[in-house]
Amino acid sequence: MAVRIDGKALAAQVKARVRSEVGTLSRPPGLAVILVGDDPASAVYVRGKEADCAECGIRSFPHRLPADTPEETLLELVRQLNEDDAVDGILCQLPLPPHLDADLVIHTIRPDKDVDCFHPFNVGQMSIGRPAFLPCTPAGVMEMLRYYQIPTAGKRCVVLGRSNIVGKPMAMLLTQADGTVTLCHSRTPDMEALTREADILVSAVGRPGLVTAEMVKEGAAVIDVAMNRGPDGKLCGDVDFAAVEPKASYITPVPGGVGPMTRAMLMCNLLTAAKKHGA
Ligand code: GUN
Repeated sequence: MAVRIDGKALAAQVKARVRSEVGTLSRPPGLAVILVGDDPASAVYVRGKEADCAECGIRSFPHRLPADTPEETLLELVRQLNEDDAVDGILCQLPLPPHLDADLVIHTIRPDKDVDCFHPFNVGQMSIGRPAFLPCTPAGVMEMLRYYQIPTAGKRCVVLGRSNIVGKPMAMLLTQADGTVTLCHSRTPDMEALTREADILVSAVGRPGLVTAEMVKEGAAVIDVAMNRGPDGKLCGDVDFAAVEPKASYITPVPGGVGPMTRAMLMCNLLTAAKKHGA
């Protein structure tokens, strides 16, 4: 039976560390949070991030914009926040309404304030192993693996999903941690044959029930990054938890696994940014 990885408890530890270090700074770190439109899931995520800031002694500056905000208005706000010394990090919650170009917004955020680590400069720095910031979700997964002493060096790691936010950077960080990494996606033939070889299996696809017990090697560590609504309306990940738990060595629940760690790593990035800005 797998050990359940307690993301909530570990995130609380990480945030306590951030809070205590924030207390030693000459001024509190600041996060500008931009939310465009009224996507209910995004509103929940943003409220969570603002609550984390409060818990860590970080100031948050909310910018709620209507769904029909012109692109230039949004870009001008980002440019203002780039120049605002009270703002160490700028987070524009994705997805944006369809008339807005997320890439353009990300490009406009100054890399030293890009606490999501979405800007191509920071993605590049990470990919050559010289990161300024780490992308929050993959960094949260790495922190879990470290804390639970799940070895990566020489291990077979399989990542499902190739998004820019999770799958690709996850594969990169596991590679840098000396794993042998296979990145699977919708065009991968016979994915099961690959997942069955995985010592560490990370799923970030967004399809309930995708990872069945048959796909998991006995004793694997199974990390579920997804956040789906199941047919019963409850939150669930990609992994058939009940079936996989007896077979795995470690497993993350949804909710209470990766999600809280993502938010905690954002707080770490803010601390890093504030220190760089001389706080
Ligand atoms: N939408 C879903 N995940 C994220 C995230 O980590 N950061 C931002 N900005 N938007 C998101």
